[in-house]
Amino acid sequence: MVVLLLLLLLLPFLLYVAAPQIRKMLSSGVCTSTVQLPGKVAVVTGANTGIGKETAKELAQRGARVYLACRDVQKGELVAKEIQTMTGNQQVLVRKLDLSDTKSIRAFAKDFLAEEKHLHILINNAGVMMCPYSKTADGFEMHMGVNHLGHFLLTHLLLGKLKESAPSRIVNVSSLAHHLGRIHFHNLQGEKFYNSGLAYCHSKLANILFTKELARRLKGSGVTTYSVHPGTVQSELTRHSSFMKWMWQLFSSFIKTPQQGAQTSLHCALTEGLEILSGNHFSDCHVAWVSAQARNETIARRLWDVSCDLLGLPVD
Ligand SMILES: *[C@@H]1O[C@H](CO)[C@@H](O)[C@H](O)[C@H]1NC(C)=O
Ligand SMILES: *[C@@H]1O[C@H](CO)[C@@H](O)[C@H](O)[C@H]1NC(C)=O
Repeated sequence: MVVLLLLLLLLPFLLYVAAPQIRKMLSSGVCTSTVQLPGKVAVVTGANTGIGKETAKELAQRGARVYLACRDVQKGELVAKEIQTMTGNQQVLVRKLDLSDTKSIRAFAKDFLAEEKHLHILINNAGVMMCPYSKTADGFEMHMGVNHLGHFLLTHLLLGKLKESAPSRIVNVSSLAHHLGRIHFHNLQGEKFYNSGLAYCHSKLANILFTKELARRLKGSGVTTYSVHPGTVQSELTRHSSFMKWMWQLFSSFIKTPQQGAQTSLHCALTEGLEILSGNHFSDCHVAWVSAQARNETIARRLWDVSCDLLGLPVD
């Protein structure tokens, strides 16, 4: 009994001492590809902070022309300047994209398609987490609307360009949280019941299902697609929840920096020979296990059709 108590008292101290080791363990995945990207074009959504920013910076470092697709253009411009200065690559451009508004998504795509001949890398990185119940401009529940439907429409609109530019890649930032996710087709917009934490999980499950379904549909096109779990990362995702912020701070020594968090996205965007693994989910730069829900093709196909329906896209 006394021993147990002593151990309990010692635990925080032990954790504190072991923190650097644990952090190293948790951040084991590093993108080791040395691929350079001169002449390549990349789009990163939500690129003005956190993992998105680090991902964009690394792509710029390797010589790509990088579009930062951001809701806040002013903030985006500051980040673009910063990346230009750090990398010496002037081809870092900011474009307005609000994923909670299909009009904004369509406008972004229209302008992009008009101004660019190619698109080699699309990183669907932007996301919201645990925001209070709210709706997008089109009346979709915010998590489903931004994390899933917004990126679904964006990918859909840019797909032709991606195909023309093949070999090209689409990376979807999902999360380990998908394990708690379920697709409730009768409650897709959270009208009947809603929990902000679970809504995030549901939308992240949707990301994985879509990656799989898209991979199936893109077979032979030269466009490959991957979903990733970036790790538990310090980022602004927790902006809507003070509890999460508090937890993050408490465990901050175990948590990845945004730069470490960007590694798996970069691995999937860059590493040569990864094409045969299209449709897979990655964590720490390795193929990772997904939940039974995430492997269910029936759900994936139905979600695809429902999403097309909601967005007014032709179901094929
Ligand atoms: C990424 O996820 C979005 C949202 O779920 C989906 O629409 C899109 O098709 C996915 N793209 C890829 C390449 O997986
Ligand atoms: C997929 O999900 C459907 C609907 O929830 C279920 O009926 C079916 O058994 C699942 N299939 C597999 C292979 O798990």
